[in-house]
Amino acid sequence: MSASSTGSGEPAVEATSEYDPASHYDRVTAAWQLLLGDELHYGVFDSGDELLEVATGALTARMVQAAGFAELAAARSPARVRVLDVGCGSGAPACELRTTEGVEVVGITTSGVGVDAARARATALGIDGVSFEQRDGMDNGFADAEFDVVWALESSHLMRDREALINECARVLRPGGRLVLCDLVKWRDIPFAEVRGRIADFATLREAFGDAHFESLDYYAGTATAAGLTVERTDDLTAATLPTFDRWRANAATHRDEVVGLIGIGGHEAFVRSCDILEAFWRDGTFGYGLISAVRPS
Ligand SMILES: C[S@@+](CC[C@H](N)C(=O)[O-])C[C@H]1O[C@@H](n2cnc3c(N)ncnc32)[C@H](O)[C@@H]1O
Repeated sequence: MSASSTGSGEPAVEATSEYDPASHYDRVTAAWQLLLGDELHYGVFDSGDELLEVATGALTARMVQAAGFAELAAARSPARVRVLDVGCGSGAPACELRTTEGVEVVGITTSGVGVDAARARATALGIDGVSFEQRDGMDNGFADAEFDVVWALESSHLMRDREALINECARVLRPGGRLVLCDLVKWRDIPFAEVRGRIADFATLREAFGDAHFESLDYYAGTATAAGLTVERTDDLTAATLPTFDRWRANAATHRDEVVGLIGIGGHEAFVRSCDILEAFWRDGTFGYGLISAVRPS
């Protein structure tokens, strides 16, 4: 992650040209499973005392509810409901959807290591009806109107062109189909002087999490609308995701030696520092977490 100024003069967290998101995830996936858990995403906490895996499951449950699987299943057999999981990680949410909702899931990620891990997970669980492919969410290569639900769980911030991602998601949705997306969001624009003053923090975040682009929930809603979708809901999950950082720091302490073996001492230290930096951004109202759902009109 690095910070620079956009053409409009507005500061933003921006990409640098040499960065390759696939290789970042190829490098970190095994360590992330120790630090973040099987589901490679934030948790939604209710009491704040929950285990991380309960809270990550709760975020997935929010996405399930927003996707409207129950009403889709009422209309036809779940086995005929097709879901595209864009940025599938190591396949845990896709396998969960297949097992609990009965829907068919195609998971895609740019990381070859992620595809291998996801396929191994499905094989170990002995489930069919879920498949994984190495494809780019910004140019997915599927035919128009192939899917009933497009599911993007915490992957959009890793894509350079979020507009291309949303356009692709809208294109492959059948009429009446739904996009559900959750991710890190920004709640305010960061003045350039502040970006410059915090350049070391942004460098640490980039080292730990890769090249990230935080957009506002309004941006996601506006881009979905421009892509021809009707926005149904936008949820602010910032407060509910805040305890995630404590759990990640605890995992970093518990699994220190294994994580250092996988991503080096520098990678471990950058991860722990990043938890502190992000938590401060969450608390001061700069960044946070949001969810959006939007339907393609019939
Ligand atoms: C934070 S992980 C989330 C994984 C998964 N959704 C989960 O919740 O367990 C982000 C995922 O997005 C994938 N990703 C990043 N850029 C991508 C792109 N352009 N197209 C598809 N997947 C991408 C990464 O490889 C990784 O699998």
